This record gives sequence, structure tokens and C-alpha cells, in this order.
Amino acid sequence: MLEQLRMLGDPVLRQQTKPVTEFDARLEKLAQVMMEVMDRGEGVGLAANQIGVLSRVMVWRHPENEGERYVFVNPEIVEKSETCCTEVEGCLSVPWATMEVERAEEVVVEAQDLNAEQFRVHLSGLLARIAQHEIDHLDGRLILDRTSPEERRRVLKELRERTLATDT
Ligand code: CO
Repeated sequence: MLEQLRMLGDPVLRQQTKPVTEFDARLEKLAQVMMEVMDRGEGVGLAANQIGVLSRVMVWRHPENEGERYVFVNPEIVEKSETCCTEVEGCLSVPWATMEVERAEEVVVEAQDLNAEQFRVHLSGLLARIAQHEIDHLDGRLILDRTSPEERRRVLKELRERTLATDT
């Protein structure tokens, strides 16, 4: 199923997504489905490969304002502040664990909207964090790659235990 949220261990989360070239009804439908999956999981962002689609598309919403929603097509970080901050992050594809992740405090993102219109936004704090998290997904990268080795070991151990539990 297209709407199925992919979990850690699924190889699609490790794949590089491909740039979108067709700005058609299918793309609109994809964005809509992604918003639904994000809402169902009570997340604030989602990347297309999290539902098994290898297109460079992310959706996100303002953490304090449900109605403020965005679709970024072909997003790229074009500028990054030297200043970083470390906060605890979660991910819909790793729902049983949160971990500390260091991110740039501010980023400038260039992307296109659903009509192929190019735009550029300056994001800071939590919004910059969401954008970096989702763009990481689109490059096949997860929060596990950004956290400490100890955290990674803990989460992977839990994954193995969970996998064993579902196999039996
Ligand atoms: Co995530």
C-alpha cells in the first residue's frame, strides 16, 4: 500500500530520492497522501521515501500551528549557519526511540512548490531542524546517523529485539 509508513530496517529509507520533473496531478496526490500519513502519526514532517516513494518531496507543518503547512519539492539546503544546537529528536520511522541530534541553528532552503515555482526560505530553530531532518530522509539519512554511537547502539539493539518479537 502506498500509505504504509516505512519503518527503520526498510531499505527504502536508505535510498537517495530522485528529483521531481513532472508537476502533475500525481504529485499533488502524493503530497496530499503524505500530509495524511504525517497527521495520522502526529508528526510535523514527512519525506516521500517514508511511504516508499523515491521522489524528492517533503511535507511539514508548523509545530504550533496545525494550519501552517508546506510542500517542498526538490528541496536543497543552500546555506547553513555555523551555530549548531543539540535537541532531542524523534522520527515517525523510528517511533520507539528519541535521540539527541545536532543541527545547524539556521538554514536557507531552496525548493519548488506544486506548480514548479521556485522559492527560497530562511528557517531557524525548530523549523530549521524539521527541514534538515526531512532533507536528510530524502538523501537516505536518518537521525541514527546523526546521534552518538551509544544512542545508535541502543536503538539498533531495540530494533533487533522488536524484529525477533514479530518473527515469532
Ligand atoms: Co523522520
